[in-house]
Amino acid sequence: MAERPVVIAVDGPAASGKGTLARRLAAHLGYAHLDTGLLYRAVGAAVVAGGGDPDDAGAAAGAARALTPADMAAPDEARLRTDAVADAAGRVAAHGAVRDVLFRFQRGFAEAPPGGAKGAVIDGRDIGTVICPDADAKIFVEAEVGVRAERRVKELRERGLDAIHARVLQDMKARDARDRSRSVAPLVPADDAFVLDTTALDADAAFAKALEFIAGRNK
Ligand code: DC
Repeated sequence: MAERPVVIAVDGPAASGKGTLARRLAAHLGYAHLDTGLLYRAVGAAVVAGGGDPDDAGAAAGAARALTPADMAAPDEARLRTDAVADAAGRVAAHGAVRDVLFRFQRGFAEAPPGGAKGAVIDGRDIGTVICPDADAKIFVEAEVGVRAERRVKELRERGLDAIHARVLQDMKARDARDRSRSVAPLVPADDAFVLDTTALDADAAFAKALEFIAGRNK
């Protein structure tokens, strides 16, 4: 029988650096990478595009069910990376019915990573707690909210967009509160997660610490 793929779960709040870290880990280890935030973004964007309300569980679950496996495997990233879509994503993500629909795709990815990869690095909010509680390594990436807002402002400005720090900080606090306090799959570190605080770390230092943790798990 083929060996079970290795699963590395990377969770954390917005702009914590988890996406960059997950992508780098996947490239370094030769594993497939899944950004699960894009799935919720695709659902949020579809609800809004159809004139629906992201807080309406029925509309959100309908949009989730309408996503094809092809949509999920190759989401239109450029269109989904706006703060308006992030807001809709955070709202649809609070509905258990939406999470149930997306669960299967995420689990399938972990069990059979595309391209025959020997492992998967999956990033999100509930990978280590709900989607892959048996993951081989779990990393929870944190950073102070002020530093995360600063990073987001820089990223938006680099993309040529207007960004006001106070506004970004306010939005980030609102999203954090929603992600952490929702009743289904709230954002919390798994009991066995390595908590990586990147407040004072750049991307290289965070990557080095994560690799060190993963290597230690394999001893
Ligand atoms: O990581 P992101 O900013 O792309 O995520 C967008 C929203 O999706 C975020 O507010 C919370 C939600 N999300 C979630 O609930 N569970 C995940 N595994 C990933 C994202």
